[in-house]
Amino acid sequence: MRNSAALSQQITQHLCSDERADTPRRLLGSLRTLHELASPLSEREVRELLASLSKCTSELATFERFDAESYCRNRIFSNSFVDVLLLCWRPGQRTPIHNHAGSTCGVYVMRGEAIEIGFTASGMGPLIPSGSHAVSSGEVTVSSDNDIHLVANYSSSGEDLVTVHCYSPPLRSMRVFGEGETFFSNYGEATERATRSGCYHAEL
Ligand SMILES: [Fe+2]
Repeated sequence: MRNSAALSQQITQHLCSDERADTPRRLLGSLRTLHELASPLSEREVRELLASLSKCTSELATFERFDAESYCRNRIFSNSFVDVLLLCWRPGQRTPIHNHAGSTCGVYVMRGEAIEIGFTASGMGPLIPSGSHAVSSGEVTVSSDNDIHLVANYSSSGEDLVTVHCYSPPLRSMRVFGEGETFFSNYGEATERATRSGCYHAEL
């Protein structure tokens, strides 16, 4: 099987390699149109991209990298308008609480079950969990608002989780919230200011 470094190089170089017998054609085909983008993808286009990528699971699997300490973000494709990553999670691993800084985010669960926990700013106190839901293998979820959430592999099955993420525009900077995050509010409206240094922007 072609290794991910070679495949990544092929994608980056924008090679059309339909004549090569060992080319992962479906994956290259799914990503090739991204080179021609002139603006970020819409929610519908993010869904279409993930639907296309869902047909390339064996090729995407060559990008799988896990880490014992933390979930692992493996970049597959990136340009000015879109980022495509394969995220790999051992049981119990999770993201920090974060937002998407205005980027549309789509997730396709390739293997396992993702748990998403949402949070809301309470206005005068810490973030409050607002609910959770499971996204099962084969499902897609897309969001273009500025939700605050975390994603985790908290499945009781004890299986690894592998997810394909599409961010458009790329998630170059997202806001990460500390566990005890506190917001200011102005006349009942939460602001972006936080009282503690546990809040920061993560450069990705
Ligand atoms: Fe997220």
